[in-house]
Amino acid sequence: MKVPTILAILAAVALTSPIHAAPSASPSSASAKNGTLSNDVPDLLSRAAAEFTAQYNEALYSNSTLQRPSAFEKRAESNNVIPFCVGIASNPPRVRVFRNRMTCDISGWDTLYTFTAHTKEDEFIAPKATCSGSGSDPSRSMFFRRENCKDGNKWTHDFTFYESSAFNFRTTVWYADNPHRMLLYPNYNGLAHGWKDSYTVTYRNVYRLAADQEIRSLKADMTSHTNIHKKIKISTPNDAATMRCGEMLIGSSPSITSSPNGVLTFAGKDIYGFPGNAFDGNCTKLVNSSKIVVNRVTSNGFGSIEIIIGKSTLAAVSIKQRYSISNLLFMQALFESMRTGKPVMVGQNDMNSSGSVAFVQGTFIAISGPWNAPI
Ligand SMILES: *[C@@H]1O[C@H](CO)[C@@H](O)[C@H](O)[C@H]1NC(C)=O
Ligand SMILES: *[C@@H]1O[C@H](CO)[C@@H](O)[C@H](O)[C@H]1NC(C)=O
Ligand SMILES: *[C@@H]1O[C@H](CO)[C@@H](O)[C@H](O)[C@H]1NC(C)=O
Ligand SMILES: *[C@@H]1O[C@H](CO)[C@@H](O)[C@H](O)[C@H]1NC(C)=O
Ligand SMILES: *[C@@H]1O[C@H](CO)[C@@H](O)[C@H](O)[C@H]1NC(C)=O
Repeated sequence: MKVPTILAILAAVALTSPIHAAPSASPSSASAKNGTLSNDVPDLLSRAAAEFTAQYNEALYSNSTLQRPSAFEKRAESNNVIPFCVGIASNPPRVRVFRNRMTCDISGWDTLYTFTAHTKEDEFIAPKATCSGSGSDPSRSMFFRRENCKDGNKWTHDFTFYESSAFNFRTTVWYADNPHRMLLYPNYNGLAHGWKDSYTVTYRNVYRLAADQEIRSLKADMTSHTNIHKKIKISTPNDAATMRCGEMLIGSSPSITSSPNGVLTFAGKDIYGFPGNAFDGNCTKLVNSSKIVVNRVTSNGFGSIEIIIGKSTLAAVSIKQRYSISNLLFMQALFESMRTGKPVMVGQNDMNSSGSVAFVQGTFIAISGPWNAPI
């Protein structure tokens, strides 16, 4: 039961985020293009979350100044999982990866997308180091599969993260030369633009900023969501085993449609795959006290879904009842709740009914749905 459980789920995750599905371009046409983009760097994303954040905080805490980004960054540092913003620039096309940031529209960079990853090694769920080095002229990042990126005058060490083994998302890292630089964006067909496929990086979670047209319903439903959030307190896992089992329970969660028919409890020991995943995470002793509880808190046709171990809620989302969300999107939203220590409001993407949008850390994000930056 040990290994196959996780592999089965990995395969499901990989299906949604295929490494790349591109037919390979001929080598000559590839090298002629030499690491290009199809368009100038796009600016299609929502930049208007600040006002909403103030309203949300006002509704939740009667205080619009709580929950500033700096407070999140501080919490994130004491947490094991933080966001990394991938910024893009042209001439030549390249990325720079910024640690502990949701967005990175700074110093000439544009936010391309965001991933989260473990900052501490954990032999059970985050065993492999990747470091990011920074280079100059032009400024850029480069990943290497080791702890420290310092390499003479070529690269200075910027940061290290640990790739996730269980429940991960994968993205191809593409390279081009002169100057040596990289590009990563989920599902990007780098070969068609003269990039060389090097390897696949594996991380905890991945999403992009949502565009305004994608989040109209979510914004309109804010009052129902905040009514629920007021009644949920998220606890920080008090040891590494609880954190691992929290991740395993989130990853093992079935797809749940919250119905309006009262409280629903899924005992951890009965959730398909969870006992095996908990064994892999060396947290079997917590299986009997683990559960997923639906609709403990409700408001105007919206309900909560909570991940509970012992007496603590480790992650929660609020969601419209009868909205059916895939277990993958649900897992992504719950990971963000556990990471930030806040309930996360989730809704359908107004531009694409197979995707979801969420409000995380003062930022509107699109989870799954199309990866649509025209790069
Ligand atoms: C609002 O939050 C800020 C920052 O945490 C705090 O300094 C201030 O006293 C709070 N105001 C109220 C009315 O609670
Ligand atoms: C690749 O492109 C860069 C920047 O556009 C340029 O400086 C370099 O000479 C090109 N390299 C090759 C091999 O064409
Ligand atoms: C696994 O968990 C047990 C406690 O449940 C602990 O004693 C043991 O050291 C852990 N194993 C490792 C390799 O961390
Ligand atoms: C969990 O509970 C079952 C009985 O329901 C018991 O047989 C089992 O030993 C318990 N497991 C642990 C790890 O406590
Ligand atoms: C909606 O998202 C799915 C999944 O990413 C994608 O395959 C589909 O093309 C998208 N539909 C539209 C209309 O953008």
